[in-house]
Order: sequence, then structure tokens, then C-alpha cells
Amino acid sequence: MLSGKRILLVIAGGIAAYKVLEVVRRLRDRGAAVRCILTRAGAEFVTPLSVSALSGEKAYQDLFSLTDEADIGHIRLARDCDLVVVAPATADLMAKMAVGLADDLASSVLLATDRPVLIAPAMNPHMWRNPATQANLATLTARGIRRIGPNAGAMAERGEAGEGRMSEPAEILAAIEARLAGGEPLSGMKAIVTSGPTHEPIDPVRYIANRSSGKQGHAIAAALAEAGAAVTLISGPSREPDPPGARVVHVETAREMLAAATAALPADIAVCAAAVADWRVASAASEKLKKTSGGPPSLVLAENPDILMTLSASGSKRPRLVVGFAAETERVIEQAAAKRLKKGCDWIVANDVSPASGVFGGDANLVHVIDAAGVESWPRASKSEVAERLVRRIGDHLLQRSKGIPVP
Ligand code: CTP
Repeated sequence: MLSGKRILLVIAGGIAAYKVLEVVRRLRDRGAAVRCILTRAGAEFVTPLSVSALSGEKAYQDLFSLTDEADIGHIRLARDCDLVVVAPATADLMAKMAVGLADDLASSVLLATDRPVLIAPAMNPHMWRNPATQANLATLTARGIRRIGPNAGAMAERGEAGEGRMSEPAEILAAIEARLAGGEPLSGMKAIVTSGPTHEPIDPVRYIANRSSGKQGHAIAAALAEAGAAVTLISGPSREPDPPGARVVHVETAREMLAAATAALPADIAVCAAAVADWRVASAASEKLKKTSGGPPSLVLAENPDILMTLSASGSKRPRLVVGFAAETERVIEQAAAKRLKKGCDWIVANDVSPASGVFGGDANLVHVIDAAGVESWPRASKSEVAERLVRRIGDHLLQRSKGIPVP
């Protein structure tokens, strides 16, 4: 499936560079043409000789080398390919990409390219978690750059472990194949996803919350991004890692979630999977509430804005497809169908969140998708399987609509 494809592989300076030689070999085995750029640090880890022996081409290294520029200019190098892969993508190279530095061949080519880019980050877990790296990653993601990994595991440094290991060659290969397969049914579309609980402050140290984990919403954001959509995920406080490929806006309260969601309009698709707190404390205390002899304080609640309802009624900015969730503990389908009409959304995904179902916080979900045409009950599946199936349904629906086929 890679036959005839041209990959430009940028090898930066990390110990994981040795694994990239295997990627080169496997790409060529599958019929791809591979051209490699080695950064100066990259050449400290793998030699130009091994890279060129495996790729069957010279290893490009120097921006100012007359022979390289005569051979093939850096602009052509940047464009003469179907995909640019950066592996290992070091913290340094990601930072350069984020700010647009072009002080060597690799960074110049990455700035000049108009091809899709896939990065396979690899670095020490502390470097990966550093807010600087995470901010750079968010910038790159928002520009449509895709990533594979990093994985969690042991580091080359003795005794170090955590997230930062470069993905294995087979995983990188699968990501390259997926990126080149053209299987991106939602490419060019914008999607908004809400996920997780909200926290509504009572005072500076206490809040009202719920049991939502954010797993389902985050999985939907990841699946939409995988299908090629430009995704803004608005996440309440959740332990879930930011999904690859999505721009993530972290919020605490329902009102912040609403502001972030409306700021992300216009969009083609909105999926409201967040378990938004229905009520907030009308006036949260600015200082910690103290126990007094007068007994416990009474909390006066105010109703929160409804994000799903607001997006469904956003006039000319209304997404073409608005999908809500209905968390119910009894008469699941009946209540969810009524909720679809009340909220004005196109589809509602009903799930049973009664304690016996184990849905809240668990990895599996049992859902019914309700639209104007009726109810579709899906078998119990993992939250990522539910996300993938939902995104396939979204893709099919929008495709049919764009062809003028009437759909619910
Ligand atoms: N929702 C929302 N904003 C709110 C409340 C809910 O966007 N303030 C969305 C949820 O993200 C979900 C849908 O509305 O997509 C239904 O949420 P659910 O909690 O099931 O329903 P509620 O509207 O809270 O109704 P009730 O608690 O009465 O069942």
C-alpha cells in the first residue's frame, strides 16, 4: 500500500534514532521511496552511511552544502514527497517547528514544506511533560501536524521511566500508512467536542462535581481527529491525557465551557459528551467557609447555561450536525428521545449510567443512538470502539448530506 509513495524522514538527535533505521528498511520493503535528512545531533546517533545504505539515497545534512543544493534544493526536498515524518522528534526540534526557526536543513525544510507532517516525539519524561514542550505540541497540533506516541516505558537513562519513549517502528509504520491511506473522511471539517465533568466552586477549596471521567468524550475527540477533522476539545477537569491531534481547551466550570464552545464556532460538527453540572452555587464564597455555631451554611443554587442547547440554537453558526449525550439511570431510551427534542440536537447518544452499568469511570459503554428516524442500539463496546463507530456514522451522514441524499 506504500508502493510509489515518497516519504521524507527527518532524523533528529535522540537515542531513539537507531529505531528509525528499522522504519527506513520497512518503508522500502513496502515499496516506498525514502529520503532522509539528518540533523547535526541526529548524525551523532546514526551515521549518514547507514542512513544512505538503507534508504538508497544520500543522507541530506547541510543547508549550505553546495553539492546538496545543486543536487536538490531544500525547497524541492520539502515538497517532493507525499509525507514528512519527523522521528525522533526531539523537544528541541519541536520547539523550532513551533516558532518557525530555520537555522539548519531540517528546520528549513519543515518550515518550507506544504506536505502533511507526522511527528514521533521521543524525549525524557520531564522534558515531555514540561509546559514548554506541551505548549509547542499544542501549537503544532493546531496547525494540523499529527503525532504518533510517545509511549510510556523505561528510558535509556538508568532508572528513568515515564511517557517519552518513541513509538515502535511498527506503530510508526501503521501511522504513516494511515496518514497516506487518504482515509480521512472528515478532512477539512471543524469539530467541537465537550468532555469530562465540570467543577462548580462553593468556595476557594470546595466544589460541586460529578463522576464523569472524560473517557468517552476524549475518545470521540481522538477519533474525529484521526478521521481528519480539526478538533477543538473543551475538557473539564479530567485525568485523561490530551488526545493526539486535537486542540484542547481546559476549563473548570460550565460557564467557562460554554464560553470556549461558542468561541470555537463556526464548526461543522459538535459533540457534547461532557457531564456538565446542572447547577452552580449562586454566589461562591471568596473565602473558605468556616464552621460556625449557626450550623451548616445553606447553598443557594443557580442553573447553569446549557451548552448543547446553545450550540443547537446558534443560528447561522449552528454546526451542521449536533450530537448530544443523555446520561440516564432509568427509562433510558424514552428519556433520551425526549431530551433530543428538548435540546434541539440532531442525534442523542443515550447511555445507562446507573451504578450497576459501570459506565461512569469504566472503559466500556452501552449506547443507543437516537435520531429523527428512530433508535439504533449498539452492542456493549469499549469507549474507543463506541467513539470510532460514532465518528464513522458522522462521516457517512455528512457525506450523504453533501450528496443531497435526505438523512435524519
Ligand atoms: N449538557 C450541556 N450543558 C448543560 C447540561 C447538559 O451541554 N448545562 C449536555 C450534555 O453534554 C449532554 C446533554 O446535554 O450532551 C444531556 O446531558 P444530561 O446530563 O443527560 O441531561 P441534563 O440536561 O442535565 O438533564 P437531566 O439532568 O434533567 O437529565
